[in-house]
This record gives sequence, structure tokens and C-alpha cells, in this order.
Amino acid sequence: MLDHVTAVRYVTPLREGGSMPGVVEADDLGTYVVKFRGAGQGLKVLVTEVIVGELARRLGLPVPRMVTIDLPPAIARYEADEEVQDLLNASPGTNLGVDLLPGSLGYDGSRPPDPALASRILWLDAFTANVDRTWSNPNLLTWHRETWLIDHGAALYFHHSWPSKAPNPERFAQQAYRADDHVLGGVADDLPAAHAELSARVTPDLVGEVLDQVPEDWLETTTELTDAQAVRTAYCEHLRARLDNPGAWLPGGGS
Ligand SMILES: Nc1ncnc2c1ncn2[C@@H]1O[C@H](COP(=O)(O)OP(=O)(O)O)[C@@H](O)[C@H]1O
Ligand SMILES: [Mg+2]
Repeated sequence: MLDHVTAVRYVTPLREGGSMPGVVEADDLGTYVVKFRGAGQGLKVLVTEVIVGELARRLGLPVPRMVTIDLPPAIARYEADEEVQDLLNASPGTNLGVDLLPGSLGYDGSRPPDPALASRILWLDAFTANVDRTWSNPNLLTWHRETWLIDHGAALYFHHSWPSKAPNPERFAQQAYRADDHVLGGVADDLPAAHAELSARVTPDLVGEVLDQVPEDWLETTTELTDAQAVRTAYCEHLRARLDNPGAWLPGGGS
């Protein structure tokens, strides 16, 4: 499980992002960017943040530490901004906290990662179908001269069809990935090497360990997926099926 902390003070909203994450101080003296369970995008984007972020971390990619963070109701009481107060009131219980990288800058291409790292980031995005790493929305930060990955909520979009359609790993396995607009498209130079290295590391055990990081109460059940374990298994099956079919999604084609 991710470490668990409790918020003690809401500091400020981050209005750059669509979901209005906020900077929050917690009882472990940490400062976190909180992605709220009550934001319009819902719990599924938090699930994806944890799955893709924790997968990235285990593959050696730079991702800020993530925690689960409790928002006591009192936090909202002293908040003057009505929009923020509504968001806080809609988010009691477990939210996602991402370690704040103080002084980090949004990625602008002036200090690109080395081509091997760029290739590994692009591989992760193609594998998890992350459509949200474009020039208009890089979701990369430059911190201590390194490139850090944030915001994976748009990946694994297959789960948005679950309330109405049965899970379909084969369909996800066959979905192409458009890398044309990827912010690192011009830097990544060796997708086949990244694929050979990383795909071998994504074992069933690793995927299972990643899914175990997702808090139970974020996993929404459906008529097919009747408990949290069934939901975890469905994510594992989608990732396994896609991993086995790189020809469909690996930019430049898989082996
Ligand atoms: N860990 C972090 N450290 C510093 N700034 C962050 C961090 N996470 C997010 N931000 C800032 O907040 C913005 C919005 O965060 P993001 O996770 O992309 O949310 P959204 O889902 O709303 O796009 C980012 O573009 C970045 O400027
Ligand atoms: Mg974002």
C-alpha cells in the first residue's frame, strides 16, 4: 500500500491543470499536490494515476512519491474560495497526494531528457495509452535539471466504458497509439530498445504489486466486476494482453 497521511492545511489551488489539484500540507510535514476524489473526473483517474505512476517508478522512471491523503472535514472550514471549498467538501476520505517538487518548471523542451530516457517515457505512454503528454499538455516537470513524470489520469481509458460494456482486454491490446503529437517524439530515438528492456520487466508479479497499491475504496464495481479484486484482475488482464501485442501499439511496430 502507499503511505497514508492526513492533511493539516490547504495552501493553494494549482489552476494550470484541468482538475484543480491543490497544494496541501500533511501531518508528516510533507507538502503534497492533492488530486481530489471529488473532482469532476472521478475516482477512475486516481486509479490510473496510481497504476501508471507506480508502474513507471518500478521501471526506473522519475515519478514523485505518491501517498494516500485523508482530508478531515475541518480543512474546508477556513477556505474562503467557494470553488475550492466545494471541491474539499466533495472529497472527504482518501485522496491522492503527489510529493510537491518545489521550484519545478513545466517542461518546455529547453532541457530535454537523454534520448534513452525519452524512449522509455514514450514506451510507457504507448503501452498505457496515455494521450496526455503533448506540447499543449506536457505533464512533465523539470526539477533539479531532470525530467519528472506527472499526471497519468488520462491513460488506461478503457475503464471509462466499464459501467456499460464488459471488460475487453483484447480490444485494448489492439488499440494503436498515435505518437505524432508526443512531447518527446523528437527526442526518443530507440523505441525497440526501450521495448525490449521494459517489456521484459513488466512481469505478472510486478503488475500485481502495482495493482495492490490502489486503495480498495477507489475501485468501482460493476455488474461484471463485482468486487475490488475482480477490478484489479481486469486491469492486470488488460495490461498483459496489450504487452503481448506490441505490433498494434508500439510506434514503429513491435516484434
Ligand atoms: N508534484 C508536483 N510538483 C510540482 N508541481 C506539480 C506537481 N504535480 C502537478 N504540478 C503542477 O500542477 C499542474 C496540474 O497538475 P496535473 O497533475 O497535471 O493535474 P491535471 O490532472 O489537472 O492536469 C501541473 O501542470 C504542474 O504545473
Ligand atoms: Mg495535467
